[in-house]
Amino acid sequence: MKTLLEKYEYIKEYYDIVSPILNSEEFQKRKQWRHHGDTTLYEHCIKVSYLAYRMSLKFKMDSKSVAIGGLLHDFYYKPWMENIEKKPLLKKHGFVHAKEARDNSYNYFNEYMNPIIDNIILRHMFPLNIIPPKYKEAWLVNLADKIASLDFIEKESLAKTFGIYKKGK
Ligand SMILES: [Fe+2]
Ligand SMILES: [Fe+2]
Repeated sequence: MKTLLEKYEYIKEYYDIVSPILNSEEFQKRKQWRHHGDTTLYEHCIKVSYLAYRMSLKFKMDSKSVAIGGLLHDFYYKPWMENIEKKPLLKKHGFVHAKEARDNSYNYFNEYMNPIIDNIILRHMFPLNIIPPKYKEAWLVNLADKIASLDFIEKESLAKTFGIYKKGK
């Protein structure tokens, strides 16, 4: 039986783009880093990258930059769960990790970087980080990140949030 990689040309193309980064020692460490819920950072980044890549094929976009930018959008230095020291609001993870991920991407994967990928990573936290993305590719990854991040909300808490969950039912 054919594997998915052999069966679908776009999966092979996607894998060819991301595999050098994906299989690097540094990126593999993210398999041990928790993102939200029981999702690892490794899984989250692949999800965002692949989702955005698939969407980018439907529009005229730089799909290669989308795939790489998506993969590296949360490539910050250390697991955010380890940030236990008290910090002022604007120094907290949500506000600083996009820049950290961008800088770290240049450290490890400089040869893959370009202005679009830079912008994808740096602006993926808009609107929490107030400067919006500059390129359509960066808007797409921003959206894919929001969609992928909805995963960690369990159905029950979602229902509670919207007031439709009744205890005991
Ligand atoms: Fe992020
Ligand atoms: Fe993310």
